[in-house]
Amino acid sequence: MLQETMKAVRIHAFGGPEVLRYEDAPMPPVGRDEVLVRVHAIGLNPPDWYLRDGYRALPPEWRPQVSFPIVLGTDISGVVAAVGEEVSDFAVGDAVYSMVRFFSVGESRAYAEYVSVPAAQLAQKPAGIDHVHAAGAPMSLLTAWQFMVEVGHGEPDPLQPHRHEPVPLAGKTVLVNGAAGGVGHLAVQVAKLKGARVIAVASGRHESMLRDLGADDVIDYTRTAAEDIARDLDLVVDAVGGPTTGRFLKTLKRGGSLFPIYPLGFSGADEAASLGITVSAVQVRSSGAQLAELAPLLADRSFRVVIDSTFPLADAREAHERAAKGHIQGKIVLTVA
Ligand SMILES: NC(=O)c1ccc[n+]([C@@H]2O[C@H](COP(=O)([O-])OP(=O)(O)OC[C@H]3O[C@@H](n4cnc5c(N)ncnc54)[C@H](OP(=O)(O)O)[C@@H]3O)[C@@H](O)[C@H]2O)c1
Repeated sequence: MLQETMKAVRIHAFGGPEVLRYEDAPMPPVGRDEVLVRVHAIGLNPPDWYLRDGYRALPPEWRPQVSFPIVLGTDISGVVAAVGEEVSDFAVGDAVYSMVRFFSVGESRAYAEYVSVPAAQLAQKPAGIDHVHAAGAPMSLLTAWQFMVEVGHGEPDPLQPHRHEPVPLAGKTVLVNGAAGGVGHLAVQVAKLKGARVIAVASGRHESMLRDLGADDVIDYTRTAAEDIARDLDLVVDAVGGPTTGRFLKTLKRGGSLFPIYPLGFSGADEAASLGITVSAVQVRSSGAQLAELAPLLADRSFRVVIDSTFPLADAREAHERAAKGHIQGKIVLTVA
């Protein structure tokens, strides 16, 4: 018999890290096609602090309406505690990982001892890696995969009318900007696995980590602007993105592509068209099928999740304060005792 309450980190108002409260919360209900997971670790992602802050970077009409309190977080690794009547692919005791209900703002509820997950968004945890590393993978790796290999969903994107199409990577030269962060360090590894030559752009402190992950060249952006020296690229994956992403257009070959992972603020559509460059992005979506496909590649270390730091769930505020300092190397992860 499961208890009626659990510990969770909730917010009762938007704001800074101080609004995160570790407190009692009701156990999540488990639908017929859902799985209740006892959470062991939770990976942090920028949407956690965007939501905590009330998505202030978005125009007011796009900001989500939510009812407080909200449990933040999307990425989990844990063990199945119960299954709904219609679930046949998972059983109590299975070790599993997921990116939960993304993009359904405020409904993911991962910063908790238990979370209910639609079975279609869950996969068996990669064998041989611990919960901390498994929890670090889902959003960052799905983002790199859906941008660079296979979108895997047909959800409409509010920011671009055309469907995002990944491009072939074998034999190509790919620059990854923001290469040390969650998405960037996995994008480097996806490009290498698919046969590209990879130039990683990051602050110098991350160079040895990026070379260890397979980067062929590393540009320290604090010394040299990548757009001043990189030329004839086939693809730029810009994991920083935003209004400055257009500076990479001149680094690309005609026929090349710029994929801003954070596309808001790009204003160079005319320049891109005149240079013959495709600019395209996609909003990552939950996919148990893709996490199942990726699990063997995490298990055999084709993809390695680098851990920046871990914090107990009760110290989620400190974890968000760490994130706010920037320069994240890989992933920040919360652990649940
Ligand atoms: N489209 C989608 O569905 C989707 C999905 C996931 C994430 N995102 C977005 O993608 C972005 C990256 O996410 P993330 O999880 O990778 O974030 P992250 O883990 O915080 O990583 C950001 C990285 O960027 C580096 N950086 C900061 N300024 C830089 C600069 N000027 N040049 C090069 N590198 C710089 C930082 O380290 P150093 O400065 O020390 O190098 C850090 O490692 C976020 O804006 C996020 O919202 C979009």
